[in-house]
Amino acid sequence: MSVAAPARIDVFRIPTRIMFGRGVSERVAEPLGQVGAKRVLIVTDPGVVNAGLVGPIEQRIRDAGIAYEVYDGVVPDPTVGDVDRCFERVTAMKADALVAVGGGSSIDTAKMAAVLMANGGSALDYVGSDKVPKPAAPVVAIPTTAGTGAEITINSVIADPEAHKKLVIISPNATALFALEDPDMTRGLPPFLTAITGMDTLVHAVESFVNKNTYAMTRALAIEAIRDAAWALPRAVKDGADLDARERMMRAVVSASLAFSNTRLGNVHAMALPLGGWCHVAHGTAVAVLLPHVMDFNRTAAPERFEAVAEAMDAGKDPRAAVSRTHRLIEEIGIPARLSQCGVTGDTIQAMAKDAMQSGNIAVNPRETTLADIEALYRAAL
Ligand SMILES: [Fe+2]
Repeated sequence: MSVAAPARIDVFRIPTRIMFGRGVSERVAEPLGQVGAKRVLIVTDPGVVNAGLVGPIEQRIRDAGIAYEVYDGVVPDPTVGDVDRCFERVTAMKADALVAVGGGSSIDTAKMAAVLMANGGSALDYVGSDKVPKPAAPVVAIPTTAGTGAEITINSVIADPEAHKKLVIISPNATALFALEDPDMTRGLPPFLTAITGMDTLVHAVESFVNKNTYAMTRALAIEAIRDAAWALPRAVKDGADLDARERMMRAVVSASLAFSNTRLGNVHAMALPLGGWCHVAHGTAVAVLLPHVMDFNRTAAPERFEAVAEAMDAGKDPRAAVSRTHRLIEEIGIPARLSQCGVTGDTIQAMAKDAMQSGNIAVNPRETTLADIEALYRAAL
């Protein structure tokens, strides 16, 4: 009797409850009420406060009779120490829930502080996959970018500046409990930030759609996200007040995040983290510059998938057209075409390539990838 190979089991995890629609951020007291929150810390950064995005949220929390404080100490690329600082404020005010208002850095800081509230220790204890024993304390995440998807995904990124590394925590216990996806909150986002955060979404969708872990359900979400982002991103960059474009970009974030949380990503993300760690290139810029080069490298390994990507980007049916459409899109939305324009020199390529090969995203990339391939891809994008 022959032994059958074990059947493949597809697991789809959505730990976050998602509310979507214009003005939904004003309903922040509802999820706080559902978890019985009595003392809330709002986690944000000064730019978001100055943009007037936190005041209305505070008002709603006050109206609901819930005690709160504002912590506006979030920095871009938060470190383990930055998470500890936020957690100290949580402890000092005895908060029982967090409201994150901002981009990926604010939301990841809040997610990791919430992990410490439930599990103790340091963010370093939870680096890797499924290392968080107990569900994080409740976080209501209100993104002001569209976006990293940090409000939905089971991933958080923490910087380790001494080792030039970005550490990834992947766990369904390290997520926001609620995501309030309000396109109005992205209205004032400047064009360049709209462009790079939006490209992150497009890259999440493309990498999830073509990688080895993809399956029918995640592909349905990812291809929809590619279609939405390719249509909406140039419009949202050109006119931030185009709320149809803003709304469709946010829909792209939700679809892409649900897809890639369940499939992981690919070479672009494996290569982007070292660019952040070694050369301080913003995540969205790094993934945008790398995307067309990695698509070109991958297209022969999954030609039908890349045909579908080209079609979703309204670029015909040739996989090569998906690559050239991506180059044009990046130019159109004002992102530099080359890494050398982002302060990267050839000196760090070997070290970055070695770090990139440590990423779990290499193993799921559609085309087998060696260290030499990664070095060549960095050089092609330089
Ligand atoms: Fe990303």
